[in-house]
Amino acid sequence: MAIPNISPKIYELLGKKILQRQNHPLTILKNKIYEHFQKVYPGVFTMKDDFPQRVSVEDNFVKLLIPDDHPTRFPTDTYFFDKNTVLRTHTTAHDFEMLKNHNAFLIAGDVYRRDEIDAKHYPAFHQLEGARIWNLESLGLSNHNQGKEFALYELKKTIEGVAEEVFGDIEMRWIDAYFPFTEPSLELEVKWQGEWLEALGCGVYHPNVLKNAGKDSNTFGWAFGFGLERWAMKVFDIPDIRLFWSDDKRFTSQFSAEKGLTKFVPFSKYPVCYKDLSFWLPEIFVENDLFEVVRDVGGDLVEKVEKIDEFEKKGKKSRCYRIHYRSMDRSLSNEEIDVLQVRLREIAPEKLGVVLR
Ligand code: DAH
Repeated sequence: MAIPNISPKIYELLGKKILQRQNHPLTILKNKIYEHFQKVYPGVFTMKDDFPQRVSVEDNFVKLLIPDDHPTRFPTDTYFFDKNTVLRTHTTAHDFEMLKNHNAFLIAGDVYRRDEIDAKHYPAFHQLEGARIWNLESLGLSNHNQGKEFALYELKKTIEGVAEEVFGDIEMRWIDAYFPFTEPSLELEVKWQGEWLEALGCGVYHPNVLKNAGKDSNTFGWAFGFGLERWAMKVFDIPDIRLFWSDDKRFTSQFSAEKGLTKFVPFSKYPVCYKDLSFWLPEIFVENDLFEVVRDVGGDLVEKVEKIDEFEKKGKKSRCYRIHYRSMDRSLSNEEIDVLQVRLREIAPEKLGVVLR
């Protein structure tokens, strides 16, 4: 796989800025977590969610102690702009920038990994990252072992609080894990509808990572990171990861910042667009003739024709039919259906002998 290896489809995603859309479920979740941090630790955490997606190999891999021969370092797994810069594969790449000026921070962003595409996989997704560091001396701790104990305790308490805020009162468990940049490393699992879900990776910063960040040797702390989609699919009941990238109104209109964490109501069809046709009947009128005329004009877009009204006035009979237009593969515009409807109004009188009302 030659470098660069970023396809036009991926370039299209770079401009989507989903985490800036206030009524998108991922933004709603991101904000809920940030608000939780503000409530529990007022003024402690700074959030940054607009870092550029292009990062150096140094920040994304090298300074995080990810070895040269790890598969994630190859263009089979990662999108490279050139040999020194990549599309971030995780928000952890920005820890170094944040660690310069902050002792506690959150980072959110879209991340990219070459992957298959199905309901659970997509080459882009969103992560939320967090970290908090302290100084041994200023806490009165005498060595790094004490620091590790303190950080682990703080980490678990903090993360359990976030998980409870989002998932509610659920069972959780901690599993040993491995990340090159933390030691020890842990994973949080939460029990969701009877099944254990891998929810988040975290750990105590490896001392060499903090050294690479330019911190003095008394610094220690914890870090975590996880995929927002993975949480959002559970709490919003969203069945397919591709929906997060959809501009389909039937998806986007279901969520709002005000409503918060609500359940997604699935849809399988494109919306129906209907138009009514009212007319005075001729001496002889056969409904099937009307159906045929409507189909001649609307073709496969016609899903249904139904009689919705009839009445008699001064010996004349009136009928109104509702025509349901629906496409199997796209949303129809009102304008495009109006064109069909105008044609129908031209043809119906000559073909059926009706008088339009
Ligand atoms: N960067 C990791 C990933 O993409 C997630 C992660 C794990 C982030 C542990 C962290 C951490 O900050 O401490 O899978």
